[in-house]
Amino acid sequence: MSVVVVTGSAGLIGAEAVRFFSHRGFKVVGIDNDMRRYFFGDEGSSKVNLERIEERCPGFVNYDIDIRDIHAIEKIFQEYSNDIVLVIHCAAQPSHDWAVREPLTDFTVNAVATMNLLEAVRHHCPGAVFILTSTNKVYGDNVNRLSFIERETRWELAEGHPYFAKGINEGMSLDQCMHSLFGVSKLAGDILAQEYGRYFGIKTGVFRAGCLTGYGHAGVEGHGFLAYLMKCTVQGRQYRIFGYKGKQVRDNIHSHDLVTAFDYFFRAPRPGEVYNIGGSRFSHCSLLEAVAMAEKIAGKRLDTVLLDTPRRGDHIWWVSDVSKFASHYPSWQLTYGVDDILIEMHEKNAARWGMMAA
Ligand SMILES: NC(=O)c1ccc[n+]([C@@H]2O[C@H](COP(=O)([O-])OP(=O)(O)OC[C@H]3O[C@@H](n4cnc5c(N)ncnc54)[C@H](O)[C@@H]3O)[C@@H](O)[C@H]2O)c1
Repeated sequence: MSVVVVTGSAGLIGAEAVRFFSHRGFKVVGIDNDMRRYFFGDEGSSKVNLERIEERCPGFVNYDIDIRDIHAIEKIFQEYSNDIVLVIHCAAQPSHDWAVREPLTDFTVNAVATMNLLEAVRHHCPGAVFILTSTNKVYGDNVNRLSFIERETRWELAEGHPYFAKGINEGMSLDQCMHSLFGVSKLAGDILAQEYGRYFGIKTGVFRAGCLTGYGHAGVEGHGFLAYLMKCTVQGRQYRIFGYKGKQVRDNIHSHDLVTAFDYFFRAPRPGEVYNIGGSRFSHCSLLEAVAMAEKIAGKRLDTVLLDTPRRGDHIWWVSDVSKFASHYPSWQLTYGVDDILIEMHEKNAARWGMMAA
């Protein structure tokens, strides 16, 4: 039976990938040790997701191991070896704010463990496709050197700007700017995955994502912006906005639309390829606009506090230009806009969030 390995299987994207491939008849092997709880405390734990997928995905098995443990990784890849047709690598330290607390932990999880996995693929299942969930933070604050115009609720590019219509493409420089330590550790993993594609011919694909989102996100202040914002609205908690007057712009892609893109790549891989991927102009908003949408959906005011200082290395404006991916895989489509995402999050989680707050 063909095996799909998903690291970070209990996280937002990992759990979506487990559902997607297990419902299509693959045996799915997950690797997740709930390190998200170590990063963000009980509120950030991905345990609920793991319980959900263990219950609903027949044949799914999760290994509670650390991806930094090269011997444990070797053992899993040895066990399934050439049955492995796809590896989706989603496990990560995902927050640029957290990275500065323990730079070595951040780097070993995001960069060194990515190398462990690439080596395991090279030695045990060299024909498998390897997908890396990278990030737009690899471009660092080069993005902030663009000139933005202040509008009522958002920063925006001038209409004639080359990135205005479709967003930022893969041509943006990665170099000579501030990335945050997180951006650096992810960039190391990103370039490694490209190199294993180009140098060794492994079928690697690198997906540099804008904001990833969906009802399965255990949102916390440092990570999972829409999920955390909606949870604060439901629970009547204060939401802190870090800088840029709350007018910073993000594109938001639903986990389902991202995993569908992974599936297209899996079925027709292009080794060493890199794609910007996100909600693009189809699904994007400023923080202030997201607050207004969440308030409307929840029927409640969100208590916001606006801080002057932005997060270091944070983007003022990011919209992913997905046209390179769309040109390689023309049947792929985005299906969720920001309001669809917030409505679904509210429908699926409001009762549980309400109980947590009580
Ligand atoms: N969420 C976003 O907005 C976003 C944006 C761009 C890129 N990304 C990237 O996409 C990927 C998936 O993001 P997500 O939102 O699903 O993250 P997530 O935090 O929801 O899921 C990651 C999972 O990996 C697990 N994990 C972390 N370290 C581990 C380790 N050492 N060993 C085993 N398991 C470990 C965690 O317990 C967690 O369940 C990550 O690589 C992240 O950097 C995320």
